[in-house]
Formats: sequence, structure tokens, C-alpha cells
Amino acid sequence: MAASFFPFRRRSYTVRALESADSEALAALHLEDFNRPWTEDEFTALLAEGAVFGFAAVEEGAPGAKPCGFVLARMAAGEAEILTLAVGHAYRRRGLGYMLMDAVLRHLHAERAEALFLEVDETNHPAIALYRRLGFREVGRRPEYYEHKATGRTAALVMRRDLR
Ligand SMILES: CC(C)(COP(=O)(O)OP(=O)(O)OC[C@H]1O[C@@H](n2cnc3c(N)ncnc32)[C@H](O)[C@@H]1OP(=O)(O)O)[C@@H](O)C(=O)NCCC(=O)NCCS
Repeated sequence: MAASFFPFRRRSYTVRALESADSEALAALHLEDFNRPWTEDEFTALLAEGAVFGFAAVEEGAPGAKPCGFVLARMAAGEAEILTLAVGHAYRRRGLGYMLMDAVLRHLHAERAEALFLEVDETNHPAIALYRRLGFREVGRRPEYYEHKATGRTAALVMRRDLR
């Protein structure tokens, strides 16, 4: 074999349902990106709620590996909302955010839900691009909803994805 050949492995990922044992890893991922990180206990409490569900993206062939990204949602009276979504910095732009949101949409179709809502910072262009690609449209705007230490307040866009 040529001396210049370096063995490599293409990583692939799978999506599975969240479990309460994931709480610590979820808190660590959440901490990477949000001004007010949620604690492990908060995740444990949310996952114990009957209406809350979510998915984790994990590397295939890596037994015991922690989630690389996750999404958490809540469903009530035929409508659902995204509570949070995060993909670890090292795993971005590999399609994991899309896979996680797609898992939520498939679950909601199976549950015959009517619509999925979310709120997103108007300056969060990667997330807005992802949501638009998934068919979300803007249905509202909450001015000065988020506070940033360095840059002041920004609005939240309320987005909706019809499921029927
Ligand atoms: C938003 C986030 C979840 C996207 O996760 P991701 O795994 O990197 O996204 P994907 O690789 O699945 O991207 C899917 C599509 O979203 C859009 N997108 C994602 N990141 C983008 C970026 N940085 N710039 C522009 N578009 C982007 C693109 O359309 C992309 O498709 P493409 O790669 O074929 O162009 C991730 O950036 C993140 O965790 N951000 C911090 C937390 C956050 O903002 N959560 C949402 C709160 S509402």
C-alpha cells in the first residue's frame, strides 16, 4: 500500500429517544450556548414530565458515547413547542440539527399533532436557516425578549410549522 495512505473512518450518527440518564450530558451541551444554562436537575425534572419528549444524536459504533446534540419538546392539546435544541460545537454542520428536528416532526405526525411552535432569537441566523429549511414560518415577534450582556436586547421570532 502507498506510504501516503492514512486510515480514516467516516463518522455516522444515529438519533434515539432521550433518557433521564442523559441529564448530565444535556446540561453540559446546554451550557455551551445559552445565557441561562439549565441544570442537570432541571433536565431530569423536564424528562419526567409526561408531555415532554426529546431525542439525542449519538455517534454510531461508540458504545456509551455521550450525546453530540439533543432536542427537547413538549406536546399539549394537539400542539407542541420546542423547549430547546443544541448541537455541540465540534459536531455542527453535519446534519445533526436537521436529524433531531426531523425526529420531532416524525413523532408529532405519528401523534397526529396539528402544529409545532418555537421561539428563536432574531439574530440566531444558523437556527433560523435550519427552521426555514424545515418549513417553519414566522407568525409573531416578541420585542426585547432576550438579553445579551454585551449587545443589549433582541427580539424573539415565534415560528410555526403546520403538521396537517
Ligand atoms: C442551530 C443548530 C442546532 C444547528 O445545528 P447543526 O447540526 O449545525 O445544523 P445542520 O448541520 O443540521 O444544518 C442544517 C441546515 O441548517 C442551516 N444551518 C445550520 N447552521 C448554519 C449556519 N451556521 N449558517 C447558515 N445556515 C446554517 C443550513 O440550511 C443547514 O443545511 P446545509 O448544511 O445543507 O447548508 C446549532 O447551530 C446550535 O446548536 N446552535 C446553538 C444553539 C441554538 O441556537 N439552538 C437553537 C435555539 S432556538
